[in-house]
Amino acid sequence: MPQYFGKLPINHQPWTTIGNVDAVTWNNKTINFESNNSRLTITILAPNLIRVRFAPTGEFMPRRSWAVTLDDAEWTTTPFTVRETQATVEIETSQIRVSVQQQNCRITCFDKAKRPFAEDTETGMGWRMGAVAVWKQIAADEHFYGFGERTGFLDKLSEVKTNWTIDALDYDALTDEMYQAIPFFMALRPEVGYGIFFNTTFWSQFDIGAEQPGVWKMETRSGELDYYIIYGPEPAQILNTYTQLTGRMPLPPKWALGYHQCRWSYDSEIVVRELAQEFRQRRIPCDVIHLDIDYMQGFRVFTWSSQRFPNPAKLISDLAQDGFKTVTIIDPGVKYEPEANYHVFDQGIENDYFVRKADGELFHGYVWPDKAVFPDFLRPDVSNWWGDLHKSLTDIGVAGIWNDMNEPAINDRPFGDDGNKIWFPLDAPQGGGEDKGNIPVSSSTHIEVHNLYGLIMAKACYEGLERHRNSERSFVLTRSGYAGVQRWSSVWMGDNHSLWEHLEMSLPMLCNMGLSGVGFVGCDIGGFAGNATGELFARWMQVGMLYPLMRGHSAMSTARHEPWVFGDRVENICREYINLRYQLLPYIYSLFWEAATTGAPILRPLLYHFPNDPQTCTLYDQVFLGASLMAAPIYRPGIEHRSVYLPLGTWYDWWSGECYEGPIHILAHAPLERMPLYVRSGAIVPMQPVKQYVDESPLDEIRLRIWPGNNEYQLFEDDGHTSKYQDKSFALTNIRVFTQTSKTVVEIGAREGKWTPPTREAIVELVGFGEQRFPDDGKQHRLEF
Ligand code: GLC
Repeated sequence: MPQYFGKLPINHQPWTTIGNVDAVTWNNKTINFESNNSRLTITILAPNLIRVRFAPTGEFMPRRSWAVTLDDAEWTTTPFTVRETQATVEIETSQIRVSVQQQNCRITCFDKAKRPFAEDTETGMGWRMGAVAVWKQIAADEHFYGFGERTGFLDKLSEVKTNWTIDALDYDALTDEMYQAIPFFMALRPEVGYGIFFNTTFWSQFDIGAEQPGVWKMETRSGELDYYIIYGPEPAQILNTYTQLTGRMPLPPKWALGYHQCRWSYDSEIVVRELAQEFRQRRIPCDVIHLDIDYMQGFRVFTWSSQRFPNPAKLISDLAQDGFKTVTIIDPGVKYEPEANYHVFDQGIENDYFVRKADGELFHGYVWPDKAVFPDFLRPDVSNWWGDLHKSLTDIGVAGIWNDMNEPAINDRPFGDDGNKIWFPLDAPQGGGEDKGNIPVSSSTHIEVHNLYGLIMAKACYEGLERHRNSERSFVLTRSGYAGVQRWSSVWMGDNHSLWEHLEMSLPMLCNMGLSGVGFVGCDIGGFAGNATGELFARWMQVGMLYPLMRGHSAMSTARHEPWVFGDRVENICREYINLRYQLLPYIYSLFWEAATTGAPILRPLLYHFPNDPQTCTLYDQVFLGASLMAAPIYRPGIEHRSVYLPLGTWYDWWSGECYEGPIHILAHAPLERMPLYVRSGAIVPMQPVKQYVDESPLDEIRLRIWPGNNEYQLFEDDGHTSKYQDKSFALTNIRVFTQTSKTVVEIGAREGKWTPPTREAIVELVGFGEQRFPDDGKQHRLEF
């Protein structure tokens, strides 16, 4: 196969489409359709989940060792019925009906109210040399979300979205391919909603009515069509099932929810110590300091610059004393350096761990350390070796790892020279070998597994941290990834710019990540490339407070972007919003628990909670942090007023307490110090006193801020850093608020679970009415206001 750098070959051959059904058979899971020589199967995995596979040759590919979806065999058997008529085959579960037309094998799903969804067009399924595709109808009022990491606004109707990981440097609203490739989306219209996971690691593309209005198409450069249809109808159900299929995030250490400070680079021990001191002296909370590539010796991964970081263990332990965790960057490119005693290169060569070309020659490209070679993480021996290399970092106290450039980003010439971005030759062999259980691991070529490079690197890193950090939870941050990345890592949106447009875009970007199953996400606060103004920085910190991953970062040769560099006014705003983040940690941490157990996003677009309100379907600039808090940030210079949409229900202004009856549009007044923030009636928001870092002191006071209304809430707490929560060592407290006669009643249920918080005082504040205090003994309490 020829090597295609930069572009895959384009095929203009006409499509062949599937013919009539010749024979239908089924067993307790799968309905099998023969058509000429091709084969179509529909597997019922859950009442709202089916898997559709179509092989033009009649032969399905075996399950790949790196498959990100749960094996069909692991789903419990779901009852369904099959009814064959002359015109159709009707398959019915308790939630949906799937109708397959005998003529041309076209598939349509129906909900119980007989509303169609995921309906094949006349064309249906088709194939041509090296590619397969399916065409489906876009219903009136249907909108499309998710698609992983995407620029632009929320709804992707009339756009083309390609799944092929690249270094998306200098991205903007028109960029297509991104660092992440997550071939998943959800289509929503009032009362009806479904998700599609396109189960292919090959190059794939969604065309959402761009080529042909009213028709969406997905295509992959693979030999078979394999996709899952997930019925909702609401986004929460779709995500719940999608994350059952591709996995959920483990609970991160609680410190990872604090503020992270990063720069390319804090390039010496002296600079890092000064930075840490500034945070503490200025009383701006911060938990994590990231070290970018300059901590290394000449960009050699798993080394330290002996000049600039002469004693990293001491530095990291001093930082730890002061409440800071250290996160170090690790890139996949290993400096090509024969006979230089560079252990990573030497071990990799000795054991043949690096990617080779089809002719057996070592592949090399150029990255930070100049000429570099790249581990084949898909091989279990390589992945173990790589994971174990992190021991040199965890042994000296490094608390988390930041994986970068893992699309992988490679140049064909030394960095700095004009050159082209390349990837491994598409026919380069990858994978193979045996894992620890002696299970043979698939071997393949880059064309199939390109999109997995970042995912599998993050997985290798996560597993290494799990092995070497004594039941401490792992924190991994990755730039590249594929569907299921949430199981191993948090994700940031790469190299954004210090532009108002990028601040604005961060909201729909992160919301679409959340709607793709990846909840622990953030954008570089202040913008990575370029210089923020004080005003932009202040507004960005307000928005950053809402990011599940709250990290400030900036590039080399840009102005410094720490909270204090723009003068007192901006510093005070940053402090206030970082403080608010820390006060909200009990609330945010419970949201992480929800994400870990249900797949719910942490940052949510309004349509997540109001999918049947047409006003929300394209609304991208207001967000929910969990179900109770809704922010309407300012993302334009010189703006102090903005329109805010409050959907059906009663709403309160977080700051002033003013009450509104939705649905309504209001004009919010937001001077630089204010980010408009609202709560829904019945909101229950647990808060704590400000801390300079998450584990500064035991939680000796918990404040439940409650607004009148009817609601239930579950507070999750545990030790915040070990894996004991997996053995149910946590505490759950159910809280209820309701109105009885003319009173508001708050009921706090007896604490459940094996973990006991420190002795503390509980304050129940019914906002606008007063507060009641009592020692939090874990028993049931009923309070009236
Ligand atoms: C890439 C990363 C960026 C990092 C830089 C240097 O551009 O996206 O975050 O600072 O490399 O490592």
